[in-house]
Parts: sequence; C-alpha cells; structure tokens
Amino acid sequence: MNVALVGYGYWGKILLKNLLEIKDFNLKAVVDLDYEQLKPIKAEHPEIDISANYQEVFKRDDIEAVLVGTEETTHYQIARHALHMGKHVFIEKPMTCSFSTSKELVLLAEKNDRTLMVNHLLLYSQPVVKIKELLADKRGDILYIDCMRVSFAPQIRKRINVLWDLAPHDISVVNYLLEDMPVCVSASGVPNVSTENQDTVDCSLYYRRGKIINLKFSWKYPLRKRQTLIRTHDEVMVYDECSEDSSIHVFSVNSDSQAPAKHPVERVPPLAVALKDFLYSIEIGHQPLASGKSALDVIKIIDALQSSLDNNGEKVFLDLDPYRLKSTNSTYDYILER
Ligand SMILES: NC(=O)c1ccc[n+]([C@@H]2O[C@H](COP(=O)([O-])OP(=O)(O)OC[C@H]3O[C@@H](n4cnc5c(N)ncnc54)[C@H](O)[C@@H]3O)[C@@H](O)[C@H]2O)c1
Repeated sequence: MNVALVGYGYWGKILLKNLLEIKDFNLKAVVDLDYEQLKPIKAEHPEIDISANYQEVFKRDDIEAVLVGTEETTHYQIARHALHMGKHVFIEKPMTCSFSTSKELVLLAEKNDRTLMVNHLLLYSQPVVKIKELLADKRGDILYIDCMRVSFAPQIRKRINVLWDLAPHDISVVNYLLEDMPVCVSASGVPNVSTENQDTVDCSLYYRRGKIINLKFSWKYPLRKRQTLIRTHDEVMVYDECSEDSSIHVFSVNSDSQAPAKHPVERVPPLAVALKDFLYSIEIGHQPLASGKSALDVIKIIDALQSSLDNNGEKVFLDLDPYRLKSTNSTYDYILER
C-alpha cells in the first residue's frame, strides 16, 4: 500500500522505521514543516519524496493512506484534509483535542468510506491481549481498576496537559477490557509552573453497579511506573510495564498464600502489529481494533475529564444520549447518528 507520513519528529522517526520494515507498506513521501531534517531520508532512500507541504502530497492519486504523527493540536486539521482527499488515515493518539473534532473525523471517514484508525498502541500489546483473555468470563466481576502512568520527564509538552498525552493509552485499554462507558467522571490536577497546564492528574471513572476506575498520570513524578491492577471478586491481577518480569501476576483474594500465579507474556513491540492491523483492515474492508469509533469513546471520556478539571474536580456526567448501544458478537458499538 502506498502511504505518506506526516510528522518526522521523535515519534515520526519510529513510525518511519516500522513502515520501512513492513514490506506491504510502500512509503512514498514524508512531510514535515522542518524540511531540513527530512534531507537525510532522501539521501538514504532516494525513492521517498520529501516535502514541507502536506496539501501538495495529499493531491497525489498514488497515495492511498496517510499516517499523521505530528503534534496533537494539528491532528484534526491534517486528518480532515486527508479524509477529504479520499485517503485512509492513521492518527497518533490522541485522535484530536476535543470530542466535536474527533466526531467530525469519524463521520467524515464513514461518509467517504475510508478507514480511520488511532494509534492506541497498548491494545496491540501482548500483556493487554493476555489480560483480556484471562478476564474472558470475568468481565462482569471486575470491581475496580487502578492504573498509574507516571515518570519524571525532563521536557514536557507545552500545548496540551498530561491528561491528553497519557490518558488515551489507559482509557483505550479500560474501554477494551470493560466494553462499557462510565456514567460520570471526575479529575483533579496540579498545574505546571511554567506551562500552567496540568503535569499531574488524578482521575476517577464511575460505572454502573459501583464499579470504579482510578487513573493517575504525571510527567513530574520521581518514580517511573506504568502499572495496571484489576480487582475482580476473587482475584487481583497486576501488570507492570516497567518490571523486568513481564508476567501478569494473579493473586487469589481468598487464599492465605501471598504468592501470585504468573502468566508469562512475550514482549513483542506492538507498533508493528498496530500498523499491520491498519493495513489489513483497509485491504479486507474491516474496522481495525483501534478504530476511529472506539477512539471517539476514549476522547469522549477525556473531554469529560477535562470539564471536571476545569470545574475543580466536579463530577461530570457523560451524555450518552445520542448513542444507542448496539450489541455485537464480542464487543459493543455505538451508532453515531440518530
Ligand atoms: N503511541 C505512542 O506511544 C506515542 C509516543 C510518543 C508520541 N506519540 C504521539 O506522536 C505525535 C508526535 O509526537 P512527537 O513527540 O514526535 O512530537 P515532535 O514535536 O517531536 O514532532 C512533531 C513533528 O511534527 C511536525 N509538524 C507539526 N505540524 C506540522 C504540519 N502542519 N505539517 C508537517 N509537519 C508538522 C513538526 O515539525 C515536528 O517535527 C503526538 O501525537 C504524540 O502524542 C505517540
């Protein structure tokens, strides 16, 4: 498949490396406002065109799909233009920086019959696949989930707060595991002294039947932790992305023993798996796992959390009215338009 990559910063370089390694991708062009930094690509791969102007590149009929790896605040404009030009689109997380703009992209992709995918990478990671499998007949038993994604980042993003940067990872996983949306959410945070955006945010997601999800995100936490803990009636499941032991640990609540059962998982880099899902979903005309629609649910929750942050941590109820739950075989789907 002929593709173009827009954005060649820190993450764009990782995307490019993966695109070159997957033989079914044919990278035709790389775009970045900073044209100078694209020159080494041309020197090493003369067959790849480089440009500072994505509008020009999107005019090309031979380019079928676009990968958007630019700053978060530019995703909407670039992805919208790509969809208008009839391209399939893969966007880095977060899809956009508001629910209304994300919804517009989802509807545009549907109207133009294009695949829209958001890089919710963790959905393609082996630990999450394993946890989903372990919870297969226990989803209804989940009582709470605690997630921590914290570290001490020397540089922080200036245009968005930590919620929009890190929450897409864990909320996409929580949605995938629970197959449900919260009734209401709340969030409180600590503003960074230089950017005034929150660099640390604590969130709670409240579900029907008393289920609660707690999430902590920070760029200014002196420890690096990426941990998920899931409590069901009988068990506590723990996964630590930073630990050398890549097993899922399952503790029995009713046993006297503190020793967990260990479920080993392979550490396979998930980005290549995600990119292949994008590619093959287009080819066979299926929705990818991290579809634009599922990403819209993630944005809906983050948008509500942001409203709570803006209102001193008040609970914000999710307006699920325009959505009607439609059961499918193994997952759920929302009908976007009444
Ligand atoms: N999935 C993940 O695990 C993961 C990890 C890191 C970053 N990301 C995401 O990747 C995206 C990029 O992050 P980054 O850290 O690489 O940022 P970055 O600032 O290093 O790079 C962004 C690049 O986009 C370019 N750019 C901006 N506007 C442009 C435009 N209109 N046309 C062409 N190029 C433009 C900039 O010149 C810059 O080179 C963000 O959405 C971020 O959240 C995802």
